[in-house]
Amino acid sequence: MKIGVIMGGISTEREISLKTGMEIVNNLDKSKYEVIPIQIDKKEELIEKVKGIDFAFIALHGHFGEDGTVQGVLETLNIPYSGCGVLSSAVCMDKDMTKRILRFGGLNTANWIVVRDLNFDINEVNKIGYPVVVKPNSGGSSVATRIVNNDKELMEAVEEALKYDTEVMIEEYIKGDEITCPILDGKMLPILAIKPKSAFFDYTSKYADGGADEFVVEFEKELQQKIEFMAVKTYELLKCRVYARVDMIIKEGVPYILEVNTLPGMTRNSLFPKSAKAAGISFSQLLDIIIEKSTK
Ligand code: DAL
Ligand code: MG
Repeated sequence: MKIGVIMGGISTEREISLKTGMEIVNNLDKSKYEVIPIQIDKKEELIEKVKGIDFAFIALHGHFGEDGTVQGVLETLNIPYSGCGVLSSAVCMDKDMTKRILRFGGLNTANWIVVRDLNFDINEVNKIGYPVVVKPNSGGSSVATRIVNNDKELMEAVEEALKYDTEVMIEEYIKGDEITCPILDGKMLPILAIKPKSAFFDYTSKYADGGADEFVVEFEKELQQKIEFMAVKTYELLKCRVYARVDMIIKEGVPYILEVNTLPGMTRNSLFPKSAKAAGISFSQLLDIIIEKSTK
């Protein structure tokens, strides 16, 4: 089987994608697969570069890759691909749509509004109350994400985030413990706690060696079950397929869902492979499972 590993791309997470892609290329079992690294630098190259492959392992993050567009092209070309389909990829890339569905499903998520320019009603933010988190609505890896404490900082942060997206989310800041719940084939793998060295799990703490401490946690039974129920229900509500990673914050024993990553990072420092390893699944085995479940 000829497996093309699609990486790079044009989003703000391109550098992470290249690392994810190379890690996948290095760990795919060469006795089982013919592995073809496919680096995408421009949208227009995609169709030409995937010609002749039997399966696409998508290692892209963010726009044009994690958002359903590449999945749509592969569907059109009849090439099977890893992970979530068009619909869930598109919805999960949009944090606002994701949270609307979570609320509809009765799952806890912080209050938020979405703005499209600087002329928004500040009263809406006052209703949420400072501090708030400002982020591009469809961003990833915490690019242009800031915690702000007053109107001046808010305006600066919104202006900055608008450089990355036409929609900016202003979200209630939940001060608590960050955790992540990797889901593989509908089942939760070990939960990882994230203790960033900075104020929150920002770009640097995500990707620098030693930028954060990440370790398996188990909560007392009731909370553990609640987290598992919420993570799996999130995956199901958003119609995810094969694998995804649900990020949460726990404040005073109450979990809040932050977002869903349909193409979670697979770099050397990434959370999903770390959790799989704790469950006794090596990186190569994880890739085998993803390929097997994606072609079912
Ligand atoms: N968006 C990054 C790659 C992650 O969630 O792992
Ligand atoms: Mg993300």
